[in-house]
Amino acid sequence: MKRVLFAAFESLPFVKTGGLADVIYALPRAIDKEKYEVKVVLPLFKKIKKNYGEKLKHLNHIVVKTGSIDEKAEVYSFKTGGIDYLFIENDKFFNRDDVYGYDDDVLRFCFYNVAIVEMLIQTGYYPDIVHCHDYHTALFAALCKLKYSENENIKKIKHVFTIHNLIYQGRYGKQILTDYLGFDHKYYEDGTLRYNDECNLMKIGIVMSDIVTTVSKTYAKEIQMPEYGEGLDFVLKYRQEDLYGVVNGIDEKLFDPKKDQIYKNYSLKTHVKGKAFNKEALQEEMGLEKDPDAMLVAVISRLTYQKGMDLVVQSIEDILKKHVQLIVLGSGESKYEYAFKTMEQKHPGQAVFHCEYNENLAHKIYAGSDMLLMPSRFEPCGLSQLIAMRYGTLPLVRETGGLKDTVEPYNKYTKEGRGFSFAPFSAWDMMYVFNIANRVYENKPSDWRMLVKNAMAYNVSFGTSAKEYEELYEKVLG
Ligand code: GLC
Repeated sequence: MKRVLFAAFESLPFVKTGGLADVIYALPRAIDKEKYEVKVVLPLFKKIKKNYGEKLKHLNHIVVKTGSIDEKAEVYSFKTGGIDYLFIENDKFFNRDDVYGYDDDVLRFCFYNVAIVEMLIQTGYYPDIVHCHDYHTALFAALCKLKYSENENIKKIKHVFTIHNLIYQGRYGKQILTDYLGFDHKYYEDGTLRYNDECNLMKIGIVMSDIVTTVSKTYAKEIQMPEYGEGLDFVLKYRQEDLYGVVNGIDEKLFDPKKDQIYKNYSLKTHVKGKAFNKEALQEEMGLEKDPDAMLVAVISRLTYQKGMDLVVQSIEDILKKHVQLIVLGSGESKYEYAFKTMEQKHPGQAVFHCEYNENLAHKIYAGSDMLLMPSRFEPCGLSQLIAMRYGTLPLVRETGGLKDTVEPYNKYTKEGRGFSFAPFSAWDMMYVFNIANRVYENKPSDWRMLVKNAMAYNVSFGTSAKEYEELYEKVLG
């Protein structure tokens, strides 16, 4: 039995700010427990303490001391869903309302990475593989290989690093390496821990890990090119032999139209009536006109540059000229929020904007809508299009990253597909395909039903991808 430890900064069911939390929830559950003992380590944030405090089992008291960091921490464990969660408690850094967004974030990340190494040493739990996620845990491999390598057990650990979004890299001044972490300055001088004239955590994770993965095959190729590489394309190209794309899945129990708390449950068999019921109830709750024939389009997204919100905002009037209703759920950059607020005021009964992150409402919107609009500028994997397909809501996406890998577009000749897609990042191209989709919806109901069926039948679970990770684990263990 091999031991795998997942190290991340957020995970459901405890805390979530983005798709990372969904993956850290679903992937460990999908790994074969006959072959692997899986644990997940997380910081003990205030909210987790409040919600799970009494259920946590105290394991160890540890000392975390390196560079200028001189802290104490407690390690707790909690088992749920067949997974052993380890929590690192340090009130100074983690007993806060939010996960990120503090002036001392880099110090919190540094502390966390060192605390994980110290936890392994001081509890005597040595995983065969530590699988780190995103830049928050990108220092772990460097610490093991450059600072703690005299410890034979630490030295043996293999390192897998997954990039969930290359745009967030964690770029800081070089002094954190020596001051906070106590690394020898030579590692900066010789380039090992240096990127340009700074310390780039993502780059450190990429060069120091044994295997690097990202969350779709297309994104793995894209990030080796300057257009998508966010300045790290040549570092990724340099690691191309060890760079793999493994597409995400979603947890089929969390997202299940048969059991979910939506207006009415439905399955592949009952989806026609089921979705019609959900649509009507959703229109009522959202204050939209009760109109079964209007194509109900949803945008469920962080309202950011990455998500292609410019295209949506530019197209609002064109979209609403049609027999279409639009629901936007999400918050983000103020210029988009403003545009959607204006849209709602201008088109009462036809368009609504819920400026919030609301998981329960999101599920109801997935269930009640006909189409999900997701024209991302870039998308490492994307989870919303997977959820949409599971609920029989056809995604209209831009062909990038995981969107390209998961949404097979409608082919009117072969009658294949489970959504719609366009390639160039332009409102014109998006609307061209939007209009095709709208015509299929209005004039070819049997084609639309076929697409919905294909979408619902598509396997969005983590099953196959978990197998791919297991193969990588075997490879890295040699
Ligand atoms: C990030 C990416 C998203 C991906 C998710 C989980 O949020 O933007 O595309 O699905 O991470 O890997």
